[in-house]
Amino acid sequence: MVGRLSSESSQPVSRYHVKSFGCQMNVYDSERMGDLLAADGHVAVDSADAADIVVLNTCHIREKAAEKLYSDIGRLKKPRADGSRPVIVAAGCVAQAEGAEIGRRAPAVDVIVGPLAYHNLPALLREAAAIPADARGARWGRAIDTDMPASPKFDHLPARRHQGASAFLTVQEGCDKFCTFCVVPYTRGGEVSRPFADLVREAETLVAAGAVEITLIGQNVNAYGLELGGGATLPALIAELAQLEGLKRIRYTTSHPRDMTRALIDAHAEIPKLMPYLHLPVQSGSSRILKAMNRAHTRESYLATLAELRAARPDIALSGDFIVGFPGETEADFADTLRIVSEVGYAQAYSFKYSQRPGTPAATMADQVPEAVKEERLARLQAAITAGAHAFNLASVGRHTEILLERPGRKPGQLIGKTPWLQSAVVSVTGAKIGDLIAVEITEGQPNSVEARPVDRAPSLPAERAAA
Ligand code: 5AD
Ligand code: SF4
Repeated sequence: MVGRLSSESSQPVSRYHVKSFGCQMNVYDSERMGDLLAADGHVAVDSADAADIVVLNTCHIREKAAEKLYSDIGRLKKPRADGSRPVIVAAGCVAQAEGAEIGRRAPAVDVIVGPLAYHNLPALLREAAAIPADARGARWGRAIDTDMPASPKFDHLPARRHQGASAFLTVQEGCDKFCTFCVVPYTRGGEVSRPFADLVREAETLVAAGAVEITLIGQNVNAYGLELGGGATLPALIAELAQLEGLKRIRYTTSHPRDMTRALIDAHAEIPKLMPYLHLPVQSGSSRILKAMNRAHTRESYLATLAELRAARPDIALSGDFIVGFPGETEADFADTLRIVSEVGYAQAYSFKYSQRPGTPAATMADQVPEAVKEERLARLQAAITAGAHAFNLASVGRHTEILLERPGRKPGQLIGKTPWLQSAVVSVTGAKIGDLIAVEITEGQPNSVEARPVDRAPSLPAERAAA
């Protein structure tokens, strides 16, 4: 039996829960789906077990991510003590890529909605509710929308309800780069930038609601505005948002090395509110593999971009993504990857075993690397990344800076905040609360975090930059 949605009641009030998998784009989309459901009269709950509608906002980037959807559906479809089960919504990139297959593999799913169509979620729920329960099984999805409309969904979303000190703001979606391993151009479509004025307005709303940090997000965030021509670019947007008085920190992610323009690099030198941190995926340290990946950059051009960034902002912390075991990757190619990790000195980085994604060019390339080799390379790469992160954290001991408090720590009186370099900093402090920016000195460096102590006043970031 389906929760409270029934054919008798086409506009029920239900408790909803949105579970997010994958990237920050999905975190943003999950929040916006929540906004839509709340605007439709539904009420948010913290756990799927207590919800009448469960939205699973999925990720398709690697195989494992898709499997999580099916295991969650398996749990959710089991009848509860009162015989009911929640309405199950499969949203996000798995829904986009595998809509029909989800229907076949998991008939319990009631609504299937892609990442470009979720503004239609309330209508799809109503459509699902209008189908009598005995029709279940006769068709594989109650309601489905995986269209990729030309008009952006953002025009159809209600006002944001975000509360909290740190907020995401999606500025562009989609990708035209077609790296040969990646499904994103197929699931999220081509690059589409949101209008500049809409973004300024949304940022103002967030700041008025208490946000002191905004992270501008997009699959290719630094391509923002480039497809339109004209002045609406990412550095222009950052400069505009830096004028908002209540806003203290600006970040952006994820960037492609190809779109690191001179103006964006200069923004790191010129805009103190732009945090000294950049996530710039390289994927491999071997130019030969980068070519096979269709990355449009080489090892050398990537390193040259980083040199320019460091000239602009000497204390900038760098992060990256790596794939090991791309088809044809030899031990020599992998050694180039290990070498780039030590050469760059990443503050942190993410690494993945290559995963064959159906429909992508690399999936059918010759010389697929055996699983055991991938695993062994991943372990060596992760050890190198962890050592580098630890070295970065140790090198920051003694820095006076500010942290933005985000969550409670494990011990009483402890809070965890973020440094400008995106390190998690553990601090024991009284009289401060989550959402505050407090002055600290970094006292210890761990592999994945730093410890800090409160101090009276932090030097301003520009002064710190001059000292770096
Ligand atoms: N296999 C493994 N990792 C992948 N990524 C993207 N596609 C794949 C794949 N097929 C990684 C890339 C990307 C990150 C978000 O996920 O490193 O930057
Ligand atoms: Fe995928 Fe490459 Fe586009 Fe990033 S740039 S989303 S890895 S195709």
